[in-house]
Amino acid sequence: MKLLITAGPTREHLDPVRFLSNRSSGKMGFAVAQAAVERGHTVTLVAGPVTLPTPEQVFRVDVVSALDMLAAVRRLLPYQHALVMCAAVADWRPKSQSDTKLKKTEVPIEVALEPNPDILKTMLPLKEDRIFVGFAAETGDPLAEAQRKLTSKGLDLIVANDVTRPDAGFEVDTNLVTFLTPSEPPRALPLQSKLDIGRAIVDWLEQRERAAPNIT
Ligand code: PMT
Repeated sequence: MKLLITAGPTREHLDPVRFLSNRSSGKMGFAVAQAAVERGHTVTLVAGPVTLPTPEQVFRVDVVSALDMLAAVRRLLPYQHALVMCAAVADWRPKSQSDTKLKKTEVPIEVALEPNPDILKTMLPLKEDRIFVGFAAETGDPLAEAQRKLTSKGLDLIVANDVTRPDAGFEVDTNLVTFLTPSEPPRALPLQSKLDIGRAIVDWLEQRERAAPNIT
């Protein structure tokens, strides 16, 4: 299969040195990419600003902001069988961005924000028979929120992770996730390495592809 995977955070710059972002290290998305090439799939990885090396045989496209990531996904999606959105995309960006470093006295105490587009929702009209997988990073009730996102974003699978645990979610090498689909009961996986979770996601994609071959 041809897989488009996103990973890492986005940065929403206020000026060339200051930005809004989040704690995503890229480890989870890079692990999915690694697992997919191990199985012989063709992987394009759209990465936000992270310090990880590119897995062998992965074609990597680096981006900075949510708008950059949206542009890259829009450009690359037509060539793919599946989109796996593991990136932690910033939902907001500063309303104005300065090309030069703002002086201390010029930085507003309150920064005006505007919403970023939702990449998954924006790509929904181009989905056709492609498989869309999302992640849900939750601090409250992970399953209820993930269920809501599964439906509202038109996904085939959402991987819910509770990002409040020290051994799961952002930055660490392990994760604790539950798979939710529109048609099956939730499947909770045991705590394991992000690479093994990547392999479980690839298993799911392969099974889904066998059940409904994608001719795109
Ligand atoms: O990178 P690591 O340090 O390894 O951490 C991994 C992770 C915690 C970042 C990862 O496992 C994870 O949960 N990624 C998704 C984080 C997230 O943004 O979740 P969300 O619930 O805010 O978004 C739901 C889905 O919509 C995600 O698939 C997201 O990529 C997508 N989204 C979100 C916002 C937006 N503007 N456009 C989107 O497409």
